[in-house]
Amino acid sequence: MEYSDLIFPKGFLWGSAASAHQTEGGTHNDWSEWEKIPGKIRDGSTSAIACDHYNRYEEDFDLAQDLGHQVHRFSIEWSRIEPAHDHWKTDEIEHYRRVVEALIARDVKPMITLHHFTNPLWFRDMGGWLNPESPTLFAPYCRRIAETLCDYDVIWNTINEPLVVATLGYLFGEFPPGIRDYGKTLTVAKHLLMAHGQAATQVREVYEEQGLEQPQIAPVISVSYFMPADPTNEDDIELARYLDELYNQSWISGAISGVVPEVLGGGGAYEPLRNSVDFIGVNYYSRMLVSSKLDFLAGEMPPKDPSLERCEGLDWEVYPEGYYHILNSLWSRYNVPLFLTENGIGTLDDSLRCRYIILHLQQVHRAIVDGVRVLGYLVWSLTDNFEWTYGYGSHFGLVEVDYETLERRPRQSAYMFRQIIEQNGLTAEIQRQYLS
Ligand code: BGC
Repeated sequence: MEYSDLIFPKGFLWGSAASAHQTEGGTHNDWSEWEKIPGKIRDGSTSAIACDHYNRYEEDFDLAQDLGHQVHRFSIEWSRIEPAHDHWKTDEIEHYRRVVEALIARDVKPMITLHHFTNPLWFRDMGGWLNPESPTLFAPYCRRIAETLCDYDVIWNTINEPLVVATLGYLFGEFPPGIRDYGKTLTVAKHLLMAHGQAATQVREVYEEQGLEQPQIAPVISVSYFMPADPTNEDDIELARYLDELYNQSWISGAISGVVPEVLGGGGAYEPLRNSVDFIGVNYYSRMLVSSKLDFLAGEMPPKDPSLERCEGLDWEVYPEGYYHILNSLWSRYNVPLFLTENGIGTLDDSLRCRYIILHLQQVHRAIVDGVRVLGYLVWSLTDNFEWTYGYGSHFGLVEVDYETLERRPRQSAYMFRQIIEQNGLTAEIQRQYLS
């Protein structure tokens, strides 16, 4: 096989992503309560001390620096900052100031996510994202964080994967609060859209009040490449199109247009959404085959293609081409730059991780050559961590974590990724070395 150098645009940013609950340890929120219910986490584990990142962030950021990362995406744990409604923990706010300073001191740009799946218990008890007031209950926390961190050069992410929160929590019942109700799923998606608007507005207002130049703000969406199980069957084609519209497009089109889409319950223009998207954070892992003969809402899926490699535990198929198609469709529809905020694979086979990253970057490069504007690429994740319902049973880290000793050991993929960063892309040599 002949390879050519695939060099990325000048200024392209490389790094990795993580979230508070999955790495920090010691969090008390709706997820830590959920983990206590037998059967909710497949390996019976809990986030407990996770990777102890709360205490070891400097060690982890040393690794990110050594591994050449230019950006690190992480989330702030809302339940630490506001453990009771309108009660603020200044020492916890200061903790995140130190986290941001630690990254900047290592020349790694912080990308801050305000909400990554978890909620404080008081918020859960007030109805969580089903409460019509939820977007405004979220806003004061966003303002506090913006006030603390606006003096630093950071990039802002508002909500991580709103449709994952909505579908896994309220349609398939696998995430808290474990509800299975299509109507409620759409209501939650709508409230998360409004919460995104509230978060962006709070951040913008703080910068405005302080006379600072406006920062880059983005929501982060999860996308999947929906494919008809039978490409000749009109109903399968239509179902794939419908799910693409619902899952990949409806929410982000609302954030960009400022109008709550009809499919999410409508409601017209929502002022806080105006000017809330500087770029789209895109998380892509896999494709999804769908069949009109099966009950998708009941979680029925066609069999996987046995010839494709899979992600550990989650069983996602490795399907890099889907990345190319999704990036093209987002760009052609919205003309808003894309930042690839998560891509990676859970596996103990690190040679598979190397192949996964290269094969996906080839597709990203292909999209860039087509004219898609891509600002950067982050591997999920810097270290192994607590993989939600899969516990510690899926290993996404460039860096292995020994959960007995908490020792960190960079994998070969971490060094391969460093080479990619140094070259600002995939040289023919890297592709030959890892794909042959
Ligand atoms: C989430 C991460 C998660 C990863 C792998 C994304 O949906 O943002 O929290 O660990 O996928 O499942």
